[in-house]
Amino acid sequence: MGATLITNIGELTTNVGRNGDPCGTLRDAAVLIEGTRIAWVGAASDAASRISDRDVASTRHGAGEQLRSQRPNDITRHRDGGGGVEVVDAGGRAVIPGFVDSHTHLVFGGDRADEFEARMTGTPYAAGGIRRTVAATREASDEELRARLAGFVDELHVQGTTTFEIKTGYGLTVADEARLARLAAEVTTEVTFLGAHVVPAEYADRREEYVELVCGEMLRACTAHSRWIDVFCERGAFTPAESERILVAGIAHGLAPRVHGNQLGPGEGVRLAVALEAASVDHCTYLSDADVAALAGSRTVATLLPGVEFSTRQRYPEARRLIDAGVTVALASDCNPGSSFTSSMPLMVALAVREMGMTPAEAVWAATAGGARALRRDDVGGIAPGMRADLVLLDAPTRVHLAYRPGVPLVRTVWVGGERL
Ligand code: NIG
Ligand code: FE
Repeated sequence: MGATLITNIGELTTNVGRNGDPCGTLRDAAVLIEGTRIAWVGAASDAASRISDRDVASTRHGAGEQLRSQRPNDITRHRDGGGGVEVVDAGGRAVIPGFVDSHTHLVFGGDRADEFEARMTGTPYAAGGIRRTVAATREASDEELRARLAGFVDELHVQGTTTFEIKTGYGLTVADEARLARLAAEVTTEVTFLGAHVVPAEYADRREEYVELVCGEMLRACTAHSRWIDVFCERGAFTPAESERILVAGIAHGLAPRVHGNQLGPGEGVRLAVALEAASVDHCTYLSDADVAALAGSRTVATLLPGVEFSTRQRYPEARRLIDAGVTVALASDCNPGSSFTSSMPLMVALAVREMGMTPAEAVWAATAGGARALRRDDVGGIAPGMRADLVLLDAPTRVHLAYRPGVPLVRTVWVGGERL
């Protein structure tokens, strides 16, 4: 497979922490990609010596040609008969790791713009809206859901997201949950079984039976396509006792736990997540001091989803309080048709900086390395030799511009597993 040298990078965010800088920032840097992985990271002035003799020879022979691309002026290919190195001149711009969106709900039918519109004039968000999407999702064919999902994947990529998790949770029958897990698995390895999203309408008077179904037949139908199990532990969804029972059943079937908790009010979600050593507890909008202390002493990441507070007019989670207490924080989009219909990680960074007291460096780290931690992945979320070559070239000189220029499409070029999109 070919190689790519990205050089003349003005600011490189590696997330390989050094000297108190968790972003591991390098100036005037270069990155060499070989195949699907990062092969070398260093000073731009050393980059030429990293290209093999063969390729240097071809450069010397003037074989460089312009590739046809969206950004033709950035890219030159130096080649000989066999392979070659594509050289990308970053022009002093910033490069960051691809965003890791560790929380989405992207397999669904229908739309709830009317609910959003009502919320903007004062109607509060309610978990019950999930049932509307469940009805629309059950109606949708596999082909419809697959086509929509493909559109979302393109949407993620053009915004710089290179790893993403997808939850089930809008099927809520054995067959529908299994097909959502299967469809999600066609586009990501990070599939989460969320049969415990809400008790579906047909089980409204038989919630124990539904919990039994989730822990048994539905779970068995979804494990083959899932890595994770999640529950919505919240008033109006599942109680702490139900949530625990469901997560323990999932763990017994080989799935790893994560939790939706403390979104709409104080609750037991964080406590449960920490007790079960969940990879992440997501939302964390209403936390007690005990919740913060429990997270700080754990391996559980607090994943904050500021698109939800933006779209529901709730208060934002207290990122500063968590970080100052030593909690590992991730940022994710929670893209779903109810509480946060955006897939934009740059928007999450901007909201975290503007509304949650995070520095731009903390926010970019949380949206990349933090997401990787929330998915217990060590091959993504950073730029270092051996890691998957997922990179974003920004049309800006620094990562600060992601928050400084909100809403502006700053993602210029994206590589996923070494492949330039
Ligand atoms: O993460 N909290 C539960 N699930 C989603 C909302 C789903 C919906 O409203 O459709 C969330 O916010
Ligand atoms: Fe969610």
